[in-house]
Amino acid sequence: MRNMSCKVMASAVTVVSMLFFSCGMKEEPLEVVIEKGLTRATEQALLMAKVLETEEGKLPKSIKDGQLETSGYGWWCSGFYPGELWYLYENTPTPELKRYAELYTARVESAKNVTNNHDVGFMLNCSFGNGYRLTKNPAYKEVMLTGAHSLATRYKEHIGLIRSWDFNKQKWQYPVIIDNMMNLEFLTVVSRLSGDDTFRKIAVSHADKTMEHHFRPDYSCYHVVSYDTISGLPHVKQTHQGWADESAWSRGQAWALYGYTMMYRETGKKEYLGLANKIAAYLMNHPNMPEDKVPYWDFDMPEIPNTTRDASAAAIIASALVELSTVNRDTFGQKCWDMAEQQVRSLTSSAYLAEAGENCNFALKHSTGHFRGNIEVDVPLTYADYYYVEALMRMKRLLDKK
Ligand code: GLY
Repeated sequence: MRNMSCKVMASAVTVVSMLFFSCGMKEEPLEVVIEKGLTRATEQALLMAKVLETEEGKLPKSIKDGQLETSGYGWWCSGFYPGELWYLYENTPTPELKRYAELYTARVESAKNVTNNHDVGFMLNCSFGNGYRLTKNPAYKEVMLTGAHSLATRYKEHIGLIRSWDFNKQKWQYPVIIDNMMNLEFLTVVSRLSGDDTFRKIAVSHADKTMEHHFRPDYSCYHVVSYDTISGLPHVKQTHQGWADESAWSRGQAWALYGYTMMYRETGKKEYLGLANKIAAYLMNHPNMPEDKVPYWDFDMPEIPNTTRDASAAAIIASALVELSTVNRDTFGQKCWDMAEQQVRSLTSSAYLAEAGENCNFALKHSTGHFRGNIEVDVPLTYADYYYVEALMRMKRLLDKK
């Protein structure tokens, strides 16, 4: 029954599109764009699910040498694909989507014991967090509690931050990367679920200290800030994945925008909203932001426009801007919405959205993982698909309310 109504929806979208274009209008209605994106993402995610169904423990990662590249639970991106399945199940609650969401979520469970990096929030909140939100499965809550305790082992009270990485110890005493803001939602969620406020306090301390030390006067941010373990103050500010220490690595700016928008929602702290708005303004006014609003992988890359885009940054920014548009009920909020809409329209065009069955069954093309390391350059990435679907869902929910 659900499948059938999905087909009806798809053909309704086609009819509206045809009528629209036959009237000579330039833009498809946003509702049509959103349905197109969600329908394609669902088709692709289900094809992917079937390909990996019997490959024990494997999760999609990217494309390498023309082939699907997979990972196990330990890769920082392991939770995005199960999380995307949960969002798609939320949109179209079929037994098939639920079964696959459960199957791939289970493959991430061992991440609950990871203590050697900060990515446990990405891994578990997208997968188990969305799964628990939608099913209230008590076993999922238990996994999240264990995972939050693991993540909290990386917090040092006298520094006030969660340590991101353990490698490069000669270079960095206590490295914290801007991406780490994204792990804080897991902690605030687990505090709510467990009644243990310790996790929320860690998240607030981390966000406060990052706000103090990660940002430049123009509200762009560094990728890596390493802290002196005795004074608790930064000893170097550098990059790892960006073009240069002083450049604005696009995904880093996206993590910052999303991180502070989310932390405002989670805490109500006005300072976080103020910073999120400044980051949004920086991004929306950036002279190197392309016409289609899908950033190059670094805003300061000298080769612009002859370098690769990062569709993942666009998807993360779009999702955050949709949320920011709901808390700024003024012309700035409208600007946030307009920018997110432009990004979603671009990502849903044939320039970025794969045809069904192509792109090794990922939804989006043209992301950049680690350009300087020549890793994942101009490829699909699971987090691009996850935040794209999240942005579509957030927009759809808001349009439904209007
Ligand atoms: N968290 C790693 C990245 O954004 O590439």
